Amino acid sequence: MKGLVLAGGTATRLFPLTIVTNKHLLPIYDRPMIYYPVATLAGMGIEEVMVVVGGKSVGDVVELLGDGLHFGLNLTYRYQRGARGIADAIGLARDFVGDDCFCCVLGDNVLLGPPLAEVAREFEAGPWGAGTMLYEVADPERFGVAEFDAAGNVVGFEEKPAQPKSNRIPIGVYFLRPDAFDVVTTLHESSRHELEITDLLNHYLPGGLFHKDYAGLWTDAGTVTSLIRAAELAEQESNAGRLTGPPARPTS
Ligand code: G1P
Repeated sequence: MKGLVLAGGTATRLFPLTIVTNKHLLPIYDRPMIYYPVATLAGMGIEEVMVVVGGKSVGDVVELLGDGLHFGLNLTYRYQRGARGIADAIGLARDFVGDDCFCCVLGDNVLLGPPLAEVAREFEAGPWGAGTMLYEVADPERFGVAEFDAAGNVVGFEEKPAQPKSNRIPIGVYFLRPDAFDVVTTLHESSRHELEITDLLNHYLPGGLFHKDYAGLWTDAGTVTSLIRAAELAEQESNAGRLTGPPARPTS
C-alpha cells in the first residue's frame, strides 16, 4: 500500500497564523503538524509516500521532511495549484499510486492512538472500493457527516451540513484503490468550489464502503480552537508515554 499526505490549501481559518506560512508547519506540542499524518502512515507499515503540497512555504515543507529517511519513509512531492479540494489533490497522485491500494491522510489530522496497520491490511485484502475511519465529535457541522439507516449502515455523507444527521464524521483518513482516479474526474465542484471527499466516498456506498470507528484520540488542527486542542491532547499523550512516531529531530 502507498501513502498520500495532503498538505495544500490556503488555511484561511487560521489567519493571521498562516498568512505567510503553511499551516502544516505550525507546532503541535513538540513537533510540526505534518509529523502527525506522516506518523499515521508510517504506523501502517507504508514506506512509499507522496506529499501533495500547495499554498505557502512549500519549500519549507520539503526542507522539513526531506527524503523521509529519518521517518523510515521514501517521500516524493507533488504540487497542487490553488485550493480545489481534497478529491482534486488525490487526483494528482495517479502516476505515483500506479496499480496499488493507497491511504490518504489529511495534513492537519492528528491521530493519537493505536497504529492502523491491521486496518490497512483488512482494507487491502477486502472487496471494498473505498474506506474511511469514523469518529464521534461534538461539532459535526464542521466536518463531513455520516448518515445511518435504522440498521446502523452508513447511507450517505454530507459535507459541513447545517443540520447534521449524526455526530459521527469521516476523519481525514481514506483508503482507496486506483479506480478512485477515474471517479475523481466525474465529480462536480461544490458550492465552495472544491471537489469534495464526501462526494468521492458517496460514490462507493452502493457497493459497500469499508469503515471502522477510530479507537484512539482524534482531532483536526485547522482552526485556532482545534489547533490548541491538538496540542493539549499531544501533551497529555506524551506525559502518559503514549506519543510515538517520528523523532522530533532528523537523525540523519
Ligand atoms: C475535511 C473533509 C471532511 C472531514 C475533515 C476531517 O474537512 O472535507 O469531510 O470530515 O476534513 O478533518 P476540512 O476540515 O478540510 O474542511
